[in-house]
Amino acid sequence: MFKPKVPHPTDQEIQEICQIINETLGFNYTSRKKYLIQNRLNRHLLRLGLDNYHTYLALLRKEPQERNTLCELLTTNVTYFFREPLQFEYLAQTLLPSLSKEKKGTRKIRCWSAGSSSGEEAYSIAITCRETLGSGWDLKVLATDISSTHLTLGSEGVYPREKLESVPEKLRRKYFRPHEAMKEHYYIIPELRKDIIFRLANLLEEDSLPRRVRVDLIFCRNVFIYLSKEARTQILNHFYSRLNTGGYLFLGHSESIVSAAEPRWILLGKSVYKKR
Ligand SMILES: C[S@@+](CC[C@H](N)C(=O)[O-])C[C@H]1O[C@@H](n2cnc3c(N)ncnc32)[C@H](O)[C@@H]1O
Repeated sequence: MFKPKVPHPTDQEIQEICQIINETLGFNYTSRKKYLIQNRLNRHLLRLGLDNYHTYLALLRKEPQERNTLCELLTTNVTYFFREPLQFEYLAQTLLPSLSKEKKGTRKIRCWSAGSSSGEEAYSIAITCRETLGSGWDLKVLATDISSTHLTLGSEGVYPREKLESVPEKLRRKYFRPHEAMKEHYYIIPELRKDIIFRLANLLEEDSLPRRVRVDLIFCRNVFIYLSKEARTQILNHFYSRLNTGGYLFLGHSESIVSAAEPRWILLGKSVYKKR
């Protein structure tokens, strides 16, 4: 069968695509990403009825929505429930007991899953808080991402059975139910789903969240690895101003803040930082 093909993009075209991604998301993409770019974009071009990168770039220059689609296609959205479980144990055993003492007056805890993808991290935070704090707390987890597709998946809260493998059995039974219409899928119980607010927001754009938003915990894991040094610095400043004093920042286990240059953050271990 004849399969339509898109000719390879030129080096200049790859550079222009990298530039759009880097400017929009703060990434560090170079022409070394050529194969990833082609892999992810060729089919998209054909879907759009385009057979070359020259025309695609012309479309990107004039259509802001197409730039968003490009960003969605070139980012990695892999995530799972209770990813890096040691951090969740640390949250439950050490940080929440001390935070709950500080907050016993208001009994209000605000969290932010920044770069949430399809919501597994946000739900894992909410479950950990509920399990540790018990009832009677005003808990909200803000989940933000640039991918509207993944935010929609998160707000629907329906996941295939294999996604639940990293959820301990007891929590699976408590917070998930088999979906009646979708075989082998489970939905998050509404009481938990209402703890999460999903919102489209670019971490580079501080005003994509209302000014008043302040939180006690930020999880921004497996996002920094893609970012340039300048973007990381800008986002750390943003996090610093959004965190309440004494609040905590969780990065991915391979990500860190160079603490000598950042005296405002205290490293607690396991890529967890406390705001001074
Ligand atoms: C690899 S996933 C990590 C998901 C989750 N935090 C985890 O650790 O499992 C990275 C997510 O960050 C999002 N992302 C990347 N750059 C972003 C930016 N500048 N603003 C907001 N979200 C961004 C991507 O769309 C993607 O969903």
